[in-house]
Amino acid sequence: MRKVGIIGAGIMGSGIAQTVASKGMDVILSDISIENAERGKAGIAKGLAKLVAKEKIAQADVDALLPRITTAGDYAGMGDCDLIIEAATEREDIKLKIFTAVGEVLGAGAILASNTSSIPITRMAASSPDPTRFCGLHFFNPVPVMGLVEVIPGLATSDETTARMKSFGEALGKTVVLAGDAPGFVVNRILCPLLNEAIFVLGEGLASVEDIDAGMRLGANHPMGPLTLADFVGLDTLYEIMKVFQATTGDPKYRPAPLLQKYVEAGWYGRKSGRGFYDYSGETPVPTR
Ligand code: 3HC
Repeated sequence: MRKVGIIGAGIMGSGIAQTVASKGMDVILSDISIENAERGKAGIAKGLAKLVAKEKIAQADVDALLPRITTAGDYAGMGDCDLIIEAATEREDIKLKIFTAVGEVLGAGAILASNTSSIPITRMAASSPDPTRFCGLHFFNPVPVMGLVEVIPGLATSDETTARMKSFGEALGKTVVLAGDAPGFVVNRILCPLLNEAIFVLGEGLASVEDIDAGMRLGANHPMGPLTLADFVGLDTLYEIMKVFQATTGDPKYRPAPLLQKYVEAGWYGRKSGRGFYDYSGETPVPTR
């Protein structure tokens, strides 16, 4: 791949943009407005500056990486991209509108991939410009650090598209797991119910935020407790994922925890909104319950 378009400059889109640009590829990072895309790029620059300060990366590498990322408020400049990755809000109606609009510019041999966390690939592919060149490509947060990418072919995805996505993931230095097209694929199918269950445990008053997190950090050796991780993923995203699981499978075991729904309705989305199960307004996060 030479040039990659990324749609959505939030946590995931920005992380993917940084990772792709760090491997020498050009990136167009777009969002619903150029200002949003610029904000995403500014976040990447801020993160990289921290890594320079910690001597994890050389300033010269940052100076080479950042100009490879250009920002946009539309898809007009993506006509010569070899790959376009959609990393927008986890809502099917939003994604489907994007696929229709991107269809206007998608190059003849280019692949359209979705970083969806949970929405079935086959279903989305059916609304994409060419289902044979549509694939799931699922990254993990923080993208530059996490070692995995899931590649999820839909029913109509061609073997060539799947192979190209696998090589792309490997070119980013990630281990690629080929996953079947069922809600949540492999990792989120297991991880998201775990995070949701931790919120049930909190809602039932069985333990405090800190104790639930300490329990899973020290009792199961997870790097982050589940409530910290839920805040990190975004409670709005987790809620949408659980609703997709529940609606797609019809299985009530996937129902979102009532407390998760309440937090989302309150606008408490976790780290990105400054408050979730922790308050992020100070130097260190403080549990809110
Ligand atoms: N770019 C490059 N490197 C970065 C970076 C960035 N933006 N941010 C951090 N790093 C590096 C750091 O320099 C550090 O490097 P080192 O090991 O060489 O010192 C390393 O990454 C770890 O960073 P920190 O020391 O700052 O932080 P921690 O050691 O506390 O680890 C963590 C942070 C990696 C986030 C760890 O807590 C963790 O693995 N948590 C779990 C994350 C997880 O489960 N993610 C998946 C979420 S689910 C998902 O994304 C799917 C979606 O669909 C919902």
